[in-house]
Amino acid sequence: MNLPSRVKLVEVGPRDGLQNEKQPVPAAVKIELVHRLQNAGLTEIEVTSYVSPKWVPQMADNAEVMAGIARKAGVRYSVLTPNAQGFEAALKSRPDEIVVFAAASEAFSQRNINCSIAESIERFAPVVAAARAAGVYVRGAMSCTVGCPYEGEIAPERVGYLAGLMRGIGVQHIGVADTIGVGTPLKVQRAIEATLKHYDLADVSGHFHDTYGQAVANTLASLQMGVWQFDTSVAGLGGCPYAKGATGNVATEDVVYLLHGMGIETGIDLDKLIDAGQFISDFLNRKSGSRAATALLNKRTS
Ligand code: HMG
Ligand code: MG
Repeated sequence: MNLPSRVKLVEVGPRDGLQNEKQPVPAAVKIELVHRLQNAGLTEIEVTSYVSPKWVPQMADNAEVMAGIARKAGVRYSVLTPNAQGFEAALKSRPDEIVVFAAASEAFSQRNINCSIAESIERFAPVVAAARAAGVYVRGAMSCTVGCPYEGEIAPERVGYLAGLMRGIGVQHIGVADTIGVGTPLKVQRAIEATLKHYDLADVSGHFHDTYGQAVANTLASLQMGVWQFDTSVAGLGGCPYAKGATGNVATEDVVYLLHGMGIETGIDLDKLIDAGQFISDFLNRKSGSRAATALLNKRTS
């Protein structure tokens, strides 16, 4: 076992968590959530996406949210950009990092961004070049690396192929996403192994949705490979509009509980994080999706 001593969490709740919310979430609530997350010690926050407001109406307030954040020193703010139009709009909001997102599955690529995998790479190439020229770091996300809602199981070779394409156009860091949360530890490890043929361990992260309750196990399986960066979502918020039935990412609180329990540092204050999760759960009028937060909140009140 090669467990890391410190892990970096990228909080994706404001973006991945909220993008699929049907009820409008005002920009002020999103901004307050980001403030609470940074005050809890999160140093990487995926804030919003510059996608078509017709496709994802909840992210239409991207510029307003970015402008409203009181940026904290040492915190990096990232945004999703699917094409040049999104990138140009994003640049005005001065993100530290952009995320280009492709899929290991052809059908998901079509449903999510309305083009083939090859076309998506062609679209991303100038975006990546422009971002890097502007000094903006480029992260990539690979969807459906173990399973696809339309094509079923995805072979690791297809993940490796996509990782190679992303590397080829200059994407600096790559996330291995289980978009619909069907992965189990050995399958996730195979997807990561395929990615590691193209990227160094320090440039790979895990992004696990928890639909089948496997995300904490998949996080541990990745940690055992030395992976030390993960995307997580406060209160387990979320789902993808183009992956019907998929639930949120693994809850940040659950991963922090796991890591701290294993003596792995995160720099995050779990109590403050739980309060941030409670804030957004209260707004959405729903129970937190985090088991650890629920247990610790029950303990607080008893
Ligand atoms: P398209 O319709 O093929 O685009 O959409 P188009 O270039 O043909 O343009 C059509 C219209 O969209 C035009 O407007 C453009 O101006 C507008 P009209 O003339 O009709 O009024 N448009 C834009 N508007 C704002 N921002 C833009 C933009 N681009 C074009 N960037 C597009 C292609 C990619 C835009 C569309 O498919 C889209 O926005 N998809 C949304 C994808 C998305 O946000 N998915 C969820 C995030 S990914 C995710 O959750 C997975 C991840 O978490 C990892 C995992 O779990 O797997 C990252
Ligand atoms: Mg996701």
